[in-house]
Amino acid sequence: MNYRHGYHAGNFADVLKHVALVMLLRLLTSKDKKLFVLDTHAGAGGYDLASSVAQRTGEAEAGILRLVSAGRQGMPEAVACYLDAVSAYDRKFGPPGARLHRYPGSPRLVRAALRPGDRLVACELHPQDGLALKREFAGDRAVEVRQADGYHALKALLPPPERRGLILIDPPFEAPDEFEQLARALRHGLRRFATGCYAIWYPIKDDAAAAFVSGLGDLKLVVLELNLGSSVTPGKLAACGLAVINPPWKFEEAMREALPWIAARLGPGVTAAIHVRPTTSTAPASPA
Ligand SMILES: C[S@@+](CC[C@H](N)C(=O)[O-])C[C@H]1O[C@@H](n2cnc3c(N)ncnc32)[C@H](O)[C@@H]1O
Repeated sequence: MNYRHGYHAGNFADVLKHVALVMLLRLLTSKDKKLFVLDTHAGAGGYDLASSVAQRTGEAEAGILRLVSAGRQGMPEAVACYLDAVSAYDRKFGPPGARLHRYPGSPRLVRAALRPGDRLVACELHPQDGLALKREFAGDRAVEVRQADGYHALKALLPPPERRGLILIDPPFEAPDEFEQLARALRHGLRRFATGCYAIWYPIKDDAAAAFVSGLGDLKLVVLELNLGSSVTPGKLAACGLAVINPPWKFEEAMREALPWIAARLGPGVTAAIHVRPTTSTAPASPA
């Protein structure tokens, strides 16, 4: 296991995933019923954007930091909610400065949205990041951190007693057969908990991504994609997607508003697309 999310925190892939995650949480917690969240590949919890690892790639510069400096005028609600969550996390470490210093990972964004009685289980297999995650949530009774395989958690923890759940699956895609492992684990999860909302992040590099999405069959689906275009250094990730199974009402609408705005702020040539199934429309997200 070589992947460390600290190198990539706040990049364009995190922006896509986390804007959607914050909106999913907002919609799912608007109902007066308890929510269970499973974060199968949780990472370290929070990241220092001034650290040498973050500085080495500079990926946040082309992601969250572009949005932070974009100005709030005309900003879609989903982006505003995301930026509020990011700056609330940053403010825990000191007064806000001109520049964002700390970036919240998915478990931190989830935790900030939980109400009393909701709970999060966060799995992280890497020994150092697993330890950091345990420290991040030490003493927090709403959060259980497991240094364990997140794919197994889909079998072990579903269905949750709450009967309402959001499952974020965000693997590092280091293993050549990651899409196969993911599809297998997802099948197990869906068999146990068909009504859960599942958000699955994936890189788009070749036909494997499209094959994975088409393999989701006739599930109710909103698929979000962000593509940085041809300006990306060869060998670097240029496009990614997030497939959301059983999306809550109004999620598609919020993403149709947010994605083109984000793409326009991330730079020239950046494009966003939304695909919905069952097919009501398959169209590029409209320009901002
Ligand atoms: C893309 S990062 C997660 C980022 C995090 N979800 C976020 O949005 O802030 C993927 C993480 O999965 C961890 N990991 C890899 N294989 C795993 C597995 N089978 N179960 C749990 N965690 C795993 C890696 O160590 C890495 O920290």
